[in-house]
Amino acid sequence: MNDATPVRESLGSRLGFILLTAGCAIGLGNIWRFPFITGQNGGAIFVLIYLAFLLLLGFPVMVMELAIGRAGQRNLYGAYRTLPVGSFRWHRPGALFFSGNVILMIFYTTVTGWMIAYAFKYLHGPVATLNEQQVGTAFNNFITSPGESAGYMLGTVAVSSLICGLGLRHGVERITKLLMAGLFLLLFALCIRALFLPGAAAGLNFYLRPNLESIEKIGWFNVIAAALGQAFFTLSIGIGSIAIFGSYIDRSHSLAKESLVIITLDTLVALLAGIIIFPACFSYGVDVGSGPGLVFVSLPNVFNHMAGGRWWGAAFFLFMSAAALTTVIAVFENLIALMIDEWKFSRRKAALVNGVVIALLSLPCALGYSWLSDIQPLGKGSTILDFEDYIVSDNLLPLGGLFIVAFCSLKCGWGWKNFLAEANSGHGLKYPAGAKFYTCVVLPLLILLVFAIGFYRRWIG
Ligand code: ALA
Repeated sequence: MNDATPVRESLGSRLGFILLTAGCAIGLGNIWRFPFITGQNGGAIFVLIYLAFLLLLGFPVMVMELAIGRAGQRNLYGAYRTLPVGSFRWHRPGALFFSGNVILMIFYTTVTGWMIAYAFKYLHGPVATLNEQQVGTAFNNFITSPGESAGYMLGTVAVSSLICGLGLRHGVERITKLLMAGLFLLLFALCIRALFLPGAAAGLNFYLRPNLESIEKIGWFNVIAAALGQAFFTLSIGIGSIAIFGSYIDRSHSLAKESLVIITLDTLVALLAGIIIFPACFSYGVDVGSGPGLVFVSLPNVFNHMAGGRWWGAAFFLFMSAAALTTVIAVFENLIALMIDEWKFSRRKAALVNGVVIALLSLPCALGYSWLSDIQPLGKGSTILDFEDYIVSDNLLPLGGLFIVAFCSLKCGWGWKNFLAEANSGHGLKYPAGAKFYTCVVLPLLILLVFAIGFYRRWIG
């Protein structure tokens, strides 16, 4: 392979494709965001609504992303440029949504760095000996230390770039398979431990038994809005980070079947993360609605009270690190593929350029709790991380999803017939041709609703 005539790589196996795509979806959204949002939104009914939205909204958009990637044999931006049958230049607005990959990474790498740091801190021992007050202070000291926060972020970017630079099969696919195997092993070990904690039944009751009273207190509107937003975030759909893996597979399996497997794995991890977290919170009297700090402040308090807590804490943060790293590697792969497909970069050059650019752009977020803490873009007390998360999660993901649906539905785009033929090539479950009205009319309205609710809650309500 040389710079002038790059040969497109492909994945080594179907298992590799499933694990890579599921690894892209499974991340902080499943293990960090899902439990605290469930805690804040009343538990079991929220979970049921979330599952419904995964199927109604997440499933069709994931099939579409994979179909665009597989038909285009390139990244989403490139496919927007080459696939349309009409004259509208889809890749121009498409570039805006594709930029969501960069914005996602420039805050995600910082939080991934925090997870890795906590895994080290537990393995090494110091966090495991802290009392309740010290745990909160330790987390605050950590994120306000510019050297530590930026250092772990830079380490995350460097390691992920290196893995991508090793090649699609030898780096990305091989390492992601290992990380996913480790993730599932730790997940099951932690679940079994959580189920044997003294207050496990109360935690499971909150998590699994619908309680209408608590939903009425929070408000149905808020619960539905939170479930819609979470469904989009957890699958990373709308910005092309799923589409790229469609471009690395052949047509032997239908895409509805592949999407269902990926969504099932993603959901399994989120549901089991709840089984780890809620029994632990109820056993040790930790507030399940305590928000984003749940993982870094509340859970260390749980581990520090348990026998062997240092090792369970280390296992938990290693599990979180594996989940977050598979997402970083997958999204980096998408950005690197863009440079290889569109600008004819070699993989190594693309990995290096991507690493340097993401590292520089991630610095404001990593330093947003120390040197740059005066920058509060979303109002008093907000951080650069909140702002970047808001741009991606509340705007680029849903609007990018809407754009994908329009591309696959409209005649001036790629169109329904082309989408359906591509999605249904191969063995297995077919995307129903009878779902045209739902897919082309109801689905975009539903996505618009997600966006409108998010906008209303942020700026008006
Ligand atoms: N889908 C990714 C996650 O859940 C962004 O973390």
